[in-house]
Amino acid sequence: MVAQRVVAVYPGSFDPITNGHLDLIERGSKIFDELIVAVLRNAEKDPLFTVEERMEMLREASQHCPNVSVDSFAGLLVDYAVRRQARVILRGIRAVSDFENEMTMALMNRKLDANIETVYMMPSVSYTFLSSRLVREVVRLGGDVRGLVPPLVEARLRAKVA
Ligand code: PNS
Repeated sequence: MVAQRVVAVYPGSFDPITNGHLDLIERGSKIFDELIVAVLRNAEKDPLFTVEERMEMLREASQHCPNVSVDSFAGLLVDYAVRRQARVILRGIRAVSDFENEMTMALMNRKLDANIETVYMMPSVSYTFLSSRLVREVVRLGGDVRGLVPPLVEARLRAKVA
């Protein structure tokens, strides 16, 4: 029997990518044959960075992982996964507080398409407190986010709020 290639989608808002996201991308790239980082196109939110800017930062930050690509999607995540021939949805869980929301999403996605499995990975413990929302807030209020986001993102954040 020939082993099937496992393609995984890592979906999210990534506004912007943090070192926690990057940690998960690196872990995922080691266990899946192909990892597609997919940015949600959501007109309802009021993002700091455009989808294109977020994709560009994701591409630059993950360029050392050859099996990682960056894309965007709209509509249902499971429909996008099927279009990309992905059998896995990768998500990160930082703390117990993430669990409830992640569980309902995973079960809804399973109800929508039972062939797609959600796989959770934990980022390094040093990123447990980290989120894009907090990074945006700290930067807006003049705080330092060195070490929390890739250097290229730090520069763009500074330029954005200047
Ligand atoms: O980084 P985020 O904002 O927590 O990511 C949330 C995301 C993009 C994974 C989630 O909102 C999503 O999958 N949206 C697509 C719409 C969808 O498929 N909804 C039904 C399943 S929960």
